[in-house]
Amino acid sequence: MNQRTDMRDQAYLSGSEVKKLNFIKASTTLEFRKYYRAGLRSHIFEVLEARDVQKETQGEIIDGIRMFPRARPLKMFRILRNRFKSKEAVFQEIKKYNTLLKFLGPDLIALSEEFMADYTGTEKSQIVLCGLQEYVDGQILDPWRLFGDNYLRELFGSMPQTDALDQQTLVDTARKNIENFVKKIRDMITLTGYIPDLAGIGNLILTPGGDLKLVDINNIVEIKFNDTIYLDDKGYPSCDVSIEVLSILERDILQRQIHMEDPLYRLFLSPERRERVKTIENEFYTNL
Ligand SMILES: Nc1ncnc2c1ncn2[C@@H]1O[C@H](COP(=O)(O)OP(=O)(O)O)[C@@H](O)[C@H]1O
Ligand SMILES: [Mg+2]
Repeated sequence: MNQRTDMRDQAYLSGSEVKKLNFIKASTTLEFRKYYRAGLRSHIFEVLEARDVQKETQGEIIDGIRMFPRARPLKMFRILRNRFKSKEAVFQEIKKYNTLLKFLGPDLIALSEEFMADYTGTEKSQIVLCGLQEYVDGQILDPWRLFGDNYLRELFGSMPQTDALDQQTLVDTARKNIENFVKKIRDMITLTGYIPDLAGIGNLILTPGGDLKLVDINNIVEIKFNDTIYLDDKGYPSCDVSIEVLSILERDILQRQIHMEDPLYRLFLSPERRERVKTIENEFYTNL
C-alpha cells in the first residue's frame, strides 16, 4: 500500500452515529452504513435495503447452501465535513457541482442530489452540505499505480464480469471513456478555470462495463496561473496534484506525448514547481 492510500483510508463517523443525525428520518426499510472506503473531506454512507443487510449478515439459503450476498447500496450518502458560514457559501459549492455536471455530463460523474441540512447534533445549529449520490460499482482507478500497458486489462481481470463483453472490448471502451473524460476536463479548465479533485484515492472509479466515473464531486478548485502553489482547506496542493493526474491519464493510459509547450503543463509540471509540490505533500502526510 502506498502512503497516499494509507493516509486517506481513514474512517471517522461510526455507523451508529449516523442514526443520531437530526435530519435523517428513522426508517425500518432502509439502513445507513458507514462505507468501508472513506476520504478526508466527506463522511460516506451506503444506503441499503434493510432486508439486504439481513441477508448479508445472516445469509440466505440458495440451492441448499447458505450464501452471504453483499448488500448493494441503493445510494451513497455524503456529508461534507466542511462547515459553511452561510447558505450562500453552500449555494456557491452546489453551483460548482452544477458546472462540473454541465461539462462532464451524467456519464462521467456520479450524479448527486445536493442539499443542505441544519445539523443540531453539537447543540448549536450548523449548516452541512449533503449529497444523495448514485452508487458506482467498480475498481478504483489509482493514478499512482498505473503500472505498464496492461494496467486496464489487469483492472478488469480483478472485477467480476457481468456483461458478456470480452476483455479487449472492455479495454477499448474504457480507453475511449478516459479519452472523453480528459477532453471534457480540459474543456472545463479552458472555459471556467476550475478543476475537480482528481488526486484523491478513490475519486475515479472504473466500472465493470468500462465506464469511468468521478465520484468525488465536491472538491472543485480554481486554477491560478502564477507561481504560488495554492493549498485547499486541508492544506493539500490539490490543484497542482490534480493537473499532474490529468497528465498521468494522458501519458500513461492514453499513451500520448505530454507537450510541455501546453501552457497548463508548462507552468504546473515544471521540475522546479513539482519539487516544491512534493515537499508540501510530504509535509501534509506527516502532519495528518
Ligand atoms: N457514489 C459513490 N459510489 C461508489 N463509491 C463512492 C461514491 N462516493 C464515494 N465513494 C468512495 O468513497 C471514498 C471516499 O469518497 P470521496 O468522494 O473521495 O470522499 P472525500 O470527499 O472525503 O475525498 C472513495 O474511496 C470513493 O471511491
Ligand atoms: Mg476524495
